Amino acid sequence: RGDSGADVARLVASRVLDVPDFPKPGIVFKDLMPLFADGPVFRQVIDGIVAHHGRGSFDAVVGIEARGFVVAAAIAYATGVGVVPVRKAGKLPRAAYSASYALEYGEATLEVHQDAFTAGHRVLVVDDVLATGGTAAATLDLVERAGGTVAGFTVLLELAALGGRRRLAPRPVHALLTV
Ligand code: PRP
Ligand code: MG
Repeated sequence: RGDSGADVARLVASRVLDVPDFPKPGIVFKDLMPLFADGPVFRQVIDGIVAHHGRGSFDAVVGIEARGFVVAAAIAYATGVGVVPVRKAGKLPRAAYSASYALEYGEATLEVHQDAFTAGHRVLVVDDVLATGGTAAATLDLVERAGGTVAGFTVLLELAALGGRRRLAPRPVHALLTV
């Protein structure tokens, strides 16, 4: 509540663990589980996202499976809007749109129910980390195909060297912490 962006960035920085060689040699995994596990910090981080966008500026929150679900549900609860999950392929029970994106090896697919949004609904999309932007680009595409209007995209942590922000341009990206 009332924390500046710099305060929130410091909080995020204080609760990220660098895990070398996970999930494979040479990759430094950014683990945000300590942030999720710290109640007061988690609350300030969620409040920081809500304050940035402004209460009333979105009608639904999209969380990206799996770590985005944690963030999305908290924002939805805090603001009284609904949460829409974007899921990995094959998990949704009804008619869905699919978007695939390249991974280092092979590809991944995300899906959203075709009737997930009311036409014109302003959708805040959230995830824990922005790296190459493949996950986010696929999700923003899905939201628009399903009739939502992207009101914003927020992550807790942006890894600038991997170029996700450029890939998503001109859509704005809000990161609580950029490293
Ligand atoms: C991680 C992270 C982001 C995505 C960022 O998810 O939670 O969703 O990678 O990477 P990108 O910008 O290069 O696409 P992951 O696919 O590991 O799955 P998880 O959230 O289910 O753990
Ligand atoms: Mg993820």
